[in-house]
Amino acid sequence: MTRKVTLIKGDGIGPEVCEAAKKVVDKSGASIEWEEFDAGTSVLEKYGTPIPEHIIESIKKNKVALKAPVTTPVGKGFRSVNVTLRKSLNLYANIRPIKTYAGVKSRYENVDLVIFRENTEDLYAGIEHMINDEIAESVKIISRKASMNIVKAAFDYAVKNGRKKVTAVHKANIMKLSDGLFLRTAEEVAKDYKDIEFESVIVDAMSMKLVLNPEDYDVLVMPNLYGDILSDMASGLIGGLGLVPGANIGKDAAVFEAAHGSAPDIAGQNKANPTAIILSAVMMLKYLGEDAAADKIEKAVENVLKEGKYLTCDLGGNATTDKFTEAIISKL
Ligand code: NAI
Repeated sequence: MTRKVTLIKGDGIGPEVCEAAKKVVDKSGASIEWEEFDAGTSVLEKYGTPIPEHIIESIKKNKVALKAPVTTPVGKGFRSVNVTLRKSLNLYANIRPIKTYAGVKSRYENVDLVIFRENTEDLYAGIEHMINDEIAESVKIISRKASMNIVKAAFDYAVKNGRKKVTAVHKANIMKLSDGLFLRTAEEVAKDYKDIEFESVIVDAMSMKLVLNPEDYDVLVMPNLYGDILSDMASGLIGGLGLVPGANIGKDAAVFEAAHGSAPDIAGQNKANPTAIILSAVMMLKYLGEDAAADKIEKAVENVLKEGKYLTCDLGGNATTDKFTEAIISKL
């Protein structure tokens, strides 16, 4: 059965990397029909928002979307497109697999970790105000329900994918109530998964440990802010943001997207690395049960990176987005 998927082309490098991912999926044998939408700066004037309501309606209908990055206009009162999407579709789990690829220069060899970031609350709930001209206040929301959902998602993933350990990351020594609730909930959930090792680490120590010995970590689960920071940091361990895919998953919908943004500094130059969105499409195909097509694409990407003949500039090469994409297609 052909599956309809919402395709959000984004702005900046979005349309370029999106086209690459679409081409690769179309050649992979997967049975996907795209419902395509422009988003971001190109639609801002017409709709007054970078992500108009009809796109959200399309995701609600199709239940699955592949999304390219969208610029968040600074200082114009817009809430981030991504925060809006994640909240309005209750995509509570942000999942980012981070692993080393043969052929890509990095200081580490065997990094293979997956970050589960809570996606709907914490300081990203957007509740902030000025108390007076000199003092601003941001409210950090942590609920037992959202913490439970994300920690369970991390453990279920560990079981399903043969992972050995889940590490909860927090700062409960200082934020005793909010992060304390997150940590207690994680400890409670862990008791139901006797075969998976569980540990908790304070976020500052975690940052150091990830830089020193990233190979020691497997599945990490954490509130929104720490997840945002640590997943970008972890992408630096394996060669950069251009390689890290992501999924935003809720009970009723899922949006797959690269960890990186719209990279305005290289937009329109046929220079962007499309690996992250292509690997996000791989996660999407697995979610849809198209495992054969997903595995084929993943192997093709790994082979092109390993050969090193067509690497984009962020990985030290000089291949264009198109050349890199053609190389992947030729390996399918
Ligand atoms: P960014 O991720 O767009 O860029 C950071 C650096 O990494 C830049 O030097 C860029 O050239 C490079 N880079 C990123 N992706 C690359 C790729 N695929 N290939 C080669 N190089 C790549 O982060 P930045 O500059 O902080 O954000 C730009 C805009 O993107 C902002 O408006 C931000 O709000 C938005 N953004 C959107 C996201 C989304 O839609 N999911 C996620 C993160 C940021």
